[in-house]
Amino acid sequence: MAAPRILLIIGGGIAAYKSIELVRLLRKSGHVVRCVLTRAGEQFVTPLTLAALSENKVYTSLFDLKDEVEMGHIQLSREADLVVVAPATADLLAKMAGGQADDLATTLLLATDKPVLAAPAMNVRMWLHAATQRNVRALRGDGVTVMEPDEGEMACGEYGPGRLPEPAAIFAAIEDALANAPLPSLLPSSSTSPLAGQPDFAPAEHRPLHGRRILITAGPTHEPIDPVRYIANRSSGKQGFAIAAAAAEAGAEVLLIAGPVPLPTPPGVIRVDVETATQMAAEVQQGLPVDAAIMVAAVADWRAADTAAQKIKKDGSGQVPPLALAENPDILAGLARDPRRPPLLIGFAAETNDVIQHAQAKLARKGCDWIVANDVSADPMGGDANMVHIVTPQGVDSWERQPKNAVARKLMEKIADELDTRAPPERD
Ligand code: CTP
Repeated sequence: MAAPRILLIIGGGIAAYKSIELVRLLRKSGHVVRCVLTRAGEQFVTPLTLAALSENKVYTSLFDLKDEVEMGHIQLSREADLVVVAPATADLLAKMAGGQADDLATTLLLATDKPVLAAPAMNVRMWLHAATQRNVRALRGDGVTVMEPDEGEMACGEYGPGRLPEPAAIFAAIEDALANAPLPSLLPSSSTSPLAGQPDFAPAEHRPLHGRRILITAGPTHEPIDPVRYIANRSSGKQGFAIAAAAAEAGAEVLLIAGPVPLPTPPGVIRVDVETATQMAAEVQQGLPVDAAIMVAAVADWRAADTAAQKIKKDGSGQVPPLALAENPDILAGLARDPRRPPLLIGFAAETNDVIQHAQAKLARKGCDWIVANDVSADPMGGDANMVHIVTPQGVDSWERQPKNAVARKLMEKIADELDTRAPPERD
């Protein structure tokens, strides 16, 4: 596998010295690192130190790139697998959130089509300021991973959250982001195209799922017991969101119906947030017709038969209140029987034992075309990797354990091939 390529943008701040250690850690584990220093960053670390450690040219201004033959700023922003901003100052975060591009760092951040990870560092008041918090929320909503700063004593003598996370923690977050980064593997390479230096995704009409509409459910559902309590499960939503991201990358129109999860919406995906299974079932109906539906959500099997309008209180008698349950609609099985059944209907099954046998039984019981089954006995929900078996009436295809985004991409390849053999749905 090629070494991961990191574009490291170093903002101005006393914590910039920690970026030197970060470069060292990245190089030690074989990553290719290119550093960009903001004008303020140059006050704290020198290009010479970074060039020596990264063994690469360091960029400080847009004019370093005026020789477009060597490396244009668009190319610089996109040749990396991940863009890391550390330290991300309040000013840099504000510019990123506002889409400003008035120097090299901000221009690269606006031009990149790669995932961005920001490690903030600033005074505690600046971090807690409503404007910074607003900017962080906006950036997370845009899909930028913004780490939580460390808490502790600051260089300015104040105490609280705002310290740059330790280089080892940033390194771990980088590994995590790389494991989940969308790889352009589904997309033809543009390196030989006359558009080299332009976005490295294929024109929309050449992508494998162009013209297809795909519905995905993801995450858990929350079934209220009273205004403050609910029944839930441990689904993180990560696999479903990775599938939505991969479907959008592959050119599909993607509708993601998500239970309550704090994950950013993948680029190009239309997201509808729901809370309960009943709401999810209604939104799935609203989303039809589609070419394929992938039901990744861990839908709660039961809801409270009656939801109390007010918080249920202890009455002091030591008696526990009865909790009567009602069965939720089976969204997948309902869709299989629906006159507007998608031409390709895929269910998921997280099992703890006899994974393949249970998945085969589920395939028949639910009436879907494929079941993507995974063993969650040793590997609880919420991790970043998955080992799945694709169970179809024709047989079982077991895939090696891999990052969830790699599973998602491989699944999209299989779906694209399969849809080519099936008649499209009837449109309204
Ligand atoms: N599913 C659904 N609606 C439900 C329950 C499940 O659409 N009310 C879908 C899930 O999204 C998943 C598949 O059905 O694609 C299998 O979910 P799972 O919870 O494993 O199935 P259950 O029928 O609940 O079986 P089990 O008895 O194993 O819980």
